[in-house]
Amino acid sequence: MSERYRLTSVETVEEEDGWLFTVRDEHDLNQEVILVPCDERNVAAWVNNCTHESQRLYREGVGLVRRNGGIVCPKHGSIFDECAGTCNNGPAAETALPSVDVTVEDEQVYLTDDSVDFLWAGGDDDDDDDDVPGSSSHLQF
Ligand code: FES
Repeated sequence: MSERYRLTSVETVEEEDGWLFTVRDEHDLNQEVILVPCDERNVAAWVNNCTHESQRLYREGVGLVRRNGGIVCPKHGSIFDECAGTCNNGPAAETALPSVDVTVEDEQVYLTDDSVDFLWAGGDDDDDDDDVPGSSSHLQF
């Protein structure tokens, strides 16, 4: 991709508490990406997968669980820094979410990562491998 692609507005990311879209990566695989409000640079973009196990952080119909500047993994509760993508707790400790390059200009968010191609807004419906906590989960939001 050689040109930037307008994704949405900063206001929408803030109002909706996160914004999900799907890209095709350099390995020709679909990847979900989440835009997250971030005080330091308005918006950060992370691959929508926990680094511990295959688990979406943003789930359709639920959205993101955010707490004290962090994104909470719904499966085992590790919390990733919204702006840095790093995790220093729980099963995902000492890892970081893969990032996707975005730029904010005039309150609009643009995809500027040459290694991916925008596919669509929203999630990748074909990839339904979430292992969502069942009734035995002790995570409470
Ligand atoms: S799957 Fe996210 S902490 Fe285990």
